[in-house]
Amino acid sequence: MASYIYGIDFGTSNSALSIFDEEKNEIVDTISIPSVLYFSSNGSETTCTVGSDAICQYISDGMKGRFMKSIKRVLPRSSFVDTRIGSNKYTATDLATFIIKELKEMADKRIGQSCTKAILGRPVFFDDDDTRKDALAQKRLMNAAFNAGLEDIEFQFEPIGAAFAYEKSLTKKERVLVADLGGGTTDFTIINLDPAKSGSKNRREDIVATGGIYIGGDSFDSSFMWDRGTPYFGRGVQYESGPGKFLDLPLSLFANICSWEKMNFFNGQKIRNDIDRYFFLSKNNPKFENLITLIENNLGYTVFREIEKTKIELSGLNQTRFHYNDFEILLDEEITLEQYNQIINKDLTKINNYLDSFLNQYQIKPEEIDSIFLTGGTSLVQAIQDLFKTKFPKTPINSGDNFISVAKGLAYSGYLFE
Ligand SMILES: Nc1ncnc2c1ncn2[C@@H]1O[C@H](COP(=O)(O)OP(=O)(O)OP(=O)(O)O)[C@@H](O)[C@H]1O
Ligand SMILES: [Mg+2]
Repeated sequence: MASYIYGIDFGTSNSALSIFDEEKNEIVDTISIPSVLYFSSNGSETTCTVGSDAICQYISDGMKGRFMKSIKRVLPRSSFVDTRIGSNKYTATDLATFIIKELKEMADKRIGQSCTKAILGRPVFFDDDDTRKDALAQKRLMNAAFNAGLEDIEFQFEPIGAAFAYEKSLTKKERVLVADLGGGTTDFTIINLDPAKSGSKNRREDIVATGGIYIGGDSFDSSFMWDRGTPYFGRGVQYESGPGKFLDLPLSLFANICSWEKMNFFNGQKIRNDIDRYFFLSKNNPKFENLITLIENNLGYTVFREIEKTKIELSGLNQTRFHYNDFEILLDEEITLEQYNQIINKDLTKINNYLDSFLNQYQIKPEEIDSIFLTGGTSLVQAIQDLFKTKFPKTPINSGDNFISVAKGLAYSGYLFE
């Protein structure tokens, strides 16, 4: 029977699996799915749909049920135990299992057998520098892989995976800075690549530095929602806190609709009671009513889809329109690239500062880098490309395989089993 290794990139936005054929010594296929889940209930029975099917099903069900995105961000949350959906409870491991299992089943079907050997990617830091949370996230991911039917499992940093994929395109030795900018994290590695060494055992000494920061495309979308979205949902509206005393509605209400890890669980009775009370105290403000409509009709996904669309359009244009119109909620804004860059400026500055400290920490000067490899969906953002061009004015910048380079490179990391 043929023998295979799966390279599995469990991503915040997209997950991918590359199938490495050990006899042919090459990747024979790569599969990619959106990292989303949709739970629908039929009487007492709850079913979970995964990936593109989840999106279609959720939309065709009129956005009833529970839709979940960015599950990877839940993995390091020690405060998250489980979430109840219908009569079932799901842990973070259970949620990740659905996605890994789906990928494994799709891949097993392609190769006509069950492969239980896998290299799983992980960001350099799942969360900021908290090692306990980081260990928790890796453990949950490991358990998810086991529950999905994998047995022989190794971990590899995602940017090292991306580096090994990039190495396949090289014709000579290079010291490369790989930056993998995803939905949840931005990961870096500096690595000495050598096409002659591709797939060989001794790669550990080639890895010069690894680092990362907990910022990605989701952070940009959150910043956009805060800046351009939340004013339509009541941010800045006042309520009567006592006789004749007016205060702005609490900002925490709006922070909840800016990030997926909060939005995934933003349906508790206490929050609903608070919102109903503030609605009354704001004299039934129509903007704040939009927030109630958003929650009651589960519109988070469709609003964020428009936010992402706006971002993607601005990866190629200098101006576009952010438009959302559903359930009597109308969001409509003309937005220039310059304004967009201003909205994400805080996130850009954090990435920029982190990159400076990363190079400093390892005492590497920009001129010591032969080339840069940018990958991950967020590397397509114009301001991100400008950031690298400014910092490394003389260094060639390459990019490619934005959504599958990590999975491919993980599949090329078979040396980890030896
Ligand atoms: N053309 C584009 N322009 C700007 N951003 C984009 C574009 N296409 C996708 N993105 C963004 O890229 C991100 C997804 O990229 P990717 O699939 O590399 O992330 P991921 O691997 O799932 O996340 P992570 O590695 O952080 O866990 C999303 O935030 C998405 O909105
Ligand atoms: Mg990624």
